[in-house]
Amino acid sequence: SRRIPLVAGNWKMNFNHLEATYFVQKLVWLLRDAHFDFKRCEVALFPSFTSLRSVQVLVEADRMHINYGAQSVSVTTQGAFTGDVSADMIASLGCTYVIVGHSERRKYHPEDDANIVDQVRAVLAAGMQPILCVGESFEERRQGIELDFAVGQVHDVTRDLNTEEAAKLIVAYEPVWAIGTGMVATPQTAQEAAHAIRDDLAATFDRTVADTVRILYGGSVTSKNAAELISQPDVDGFLIGGASLDAEELAKIARLA
Ligand code: G3H
Repeated sequence: SRRIPLVAGNWKMNFNHLEATYFVQKLVWLLRDAHFDFKRCEVALFPSFTSLRSVQVLVEADRMHINYGAQSVSVTTQGAFTGDVSADMIASLGCTYVIVGHSERRKYHPEDDANIVDQVRAVLAAGMQPILCVGESFEERRQGIELDFAVGQVHDVTRDLNTEEAAKLIVAYEPVWAIGTGMVATPQTAQEAAHAIRDDLAATFDRTVADTVRILYGGSVTSKNAAELISQPDVDGFLIGGASLDAEELAKIARLA
């Protein structure tokens, strides 16, 4: 495909800043050792807020082509919002991306579609790219409405964007039943969902937007199943949780992508 694959490691609430530093050094060493071609595949890390500065310093010092970003963002720009972190604060750390609407955020925090739209807007306004997470639960799959559900989640957010904004979006299709369960989606399931999401982008915007937006698969990705998943025409990379906590495993997946 014309799209450069993106292998994104979502560390969730793992690694303090010392562990993050050690991890990045190891990953850089592994990728260099393998003569990894960063022009062929992009690698991005999503540490906790507390590790972003450490990652930035390392990446800049090493002149590495690793990108990084935050796992969520406040919908407001500044003020009396104790504990929140603004998009400008994140952008000032050299972040390229922000994960928005991860199912764990939707579950444990009051993040509904309206809030997610506002996060997407905040990320775009700060000059970064949102990675919008969508995906059905087991219940929707059981009812056979999984595609409508995932496409609907994308549609509810994108319908408020203009074409230029939509082109900056990255979508991560992460069926909730596959997250952290070891129950990876089949390549056909991942392809079907990615394809349906891309078709909806073409219908809402145009073919150029649909062909530009990268659609990642997430949910129990490992080095054992990555090659088959990435061979699907509409799967442009991965959002990896558990396996991204092992530098060797992440480097392996990046080399397969
Ligand atoms: O953001 C990552 C996804 O939630 C996938 O997590 O690879 O541990 O299943 P997982």
